[in-house]
Amino acid sequence: MSVKLNYNNVMFAKVGKHGIKREELEQMRQLAKQARAKVEASRGADMQGWMDSPYNQAEAVGRIVETAAKIRNECENFVVLGIGGSALGAIAVFNALKHLYYNELPREMRKGPRFYVIDNVDPERMNALFDIIDVSKTVFNVITKSGATSETMSQYLIITDLLKRKLGDKASRHIIATTSSNKGNLVKLAKENGFETFYIPDGVGGRFSVLSPVGLLPAAVLGIDISELLRGARETDELCKSDDLNVNPALTMAVIQYLLINKGCNINVMMPYADSLKYVADWYAQLWAESLGKERDLDGDVVNAGQTPVKALGVTDQHSQVQLYNEGPFDKVITFLEVNSFRSDIVIPQGCDGFADVNFLCGHTLAELTNKELYATRYNLTKRGRVNFTLSLDSLDEYHLGSLIYLLQLCTAYEGALLNVNAYNQPGVEGGKDATYALFGRNGYESKAEEMNNAPQDSAEFIV
Ligand code: PA5
Repeated sequence: MSVKLNYNNVMFAKVGKHGIKREELEQMRQLAKQARAKVEASRGADMQGWMDSPYNQAEAVGRIVETAAKIRNECENFVVLGIGGSALGAIAVFNALKHLYYNELPREMRKGPRFYVIDNVDPERMNALFDIIDVSKTVFNVITKSGATSETMSQYLIITDLLKRKLGDKASRHIIATTSSNKGNLVKLAKENGFETFYIPDGVGGRFSVLSPVGLLPAAVLGIDISELLRGARETDELCKSDDLNVNPALTMAVIQYLLINKGCNINVMMPYADSLKYVADWYAQLWAESLGKERDLDGDVVNAGQTPVKALGVTDQHSQVQLYNEGPFDKVITFLEVNSFRSDIVIPQGCDGFADVNFLCGHTLAELTNKELYATRYNLTKRGRVNFTLSLDSLDEYHLGSLIYLLQLCTAYEGALLNVNAYNQPGVEGGKDATYALFGRNGYESKAEEMNNAPQDSAEFIV
């Protein structure tokens, strides 16, 4: 089994009155079955093309690997330009699987280009990048499914201008587009300029796209074995083709969250005990929040659904947020991510014989300390009636990461079905985008501009 779910600590028997009774789980079996059937019925259709990603990408993988090999040999830097679902997956995979100081390693050790993701339009960040890269030795991967996102298109314009000024006709060799084949501007610009292009299948939305060319090309450029990522996803998918909560961990997790939401757990904390998984929590926060945070359900009723995701890191946040988790409101469920076997370890040396309060650590390892602290934190939270569950990875490699990613995607899809919301739209995000267009005077947004002009303005009375 690739990723193991241990949900003992959400059960009434362990945590008492804030937990889930065995009979409550039993009563969910029918609803769980219906939710899975609903998700399964749309496999490969509508916005569930991501469920086919582990199976139908042989051709794309071949081309990605070929392109990546060329980039690995020829360029010094690889920069992803994208935002939201077009960036977070690549960041998560990079941090999970590569050396934690990858960019600082000498080229002979990295064996590939340095890697950066610019997922914001902060001018200082962009200028800072130009201080450390030579654009003529850099390949930029512009990623936008819609081909229209203002942030990404602004970055694109800045980069192409710079490249053209420096390299003239050769500029186009430094841009790879990853976008939809049939909508938006990037695909048109790519054709016009002859950029190498990878297509994001129609049914794969941003936050579900890490196992498509969106995440796979950057991963392959980093020398990550993308076939293994997909194998982990595939095996998890096969395992989850069951209605049995004792077999299907994604369904069990979705059911647990559903029951806990109904008990007032409005906060969903993900706390990996490994620096390499820190950005998986970041990626998951977007997946969970943007998919499930919805005003209306599928019947059009106002439900204001969703759970607020919070990212924490073990053991670091034991010295900050864990105080709140132990003693604050009973409104949180904590998902621990545990790595059974770290890729490297360090023994805490002897040398403090005279100091018993320090000496007890000597001879143990940092991996041991990390996992014992996880055990201790979990024990203490459970004793205080705080619901928590653990996802364990035997080791941190492509296979286990692919499995974890797919498991969390599937759990989110099931949760959407249980909550009866559309997990694949984001009307709340669109509102802000439209308001930005109006502020810039974009054609077609005149009525939005008028609405904004007529909205109540800030009063000086409330500014100090
Ligand atoms: O998950 C999503 O759909 C969003 O977060 C998008 O990924 C984000 O808005 C960027 O969109 P695009 O890839 O079209 O530029």
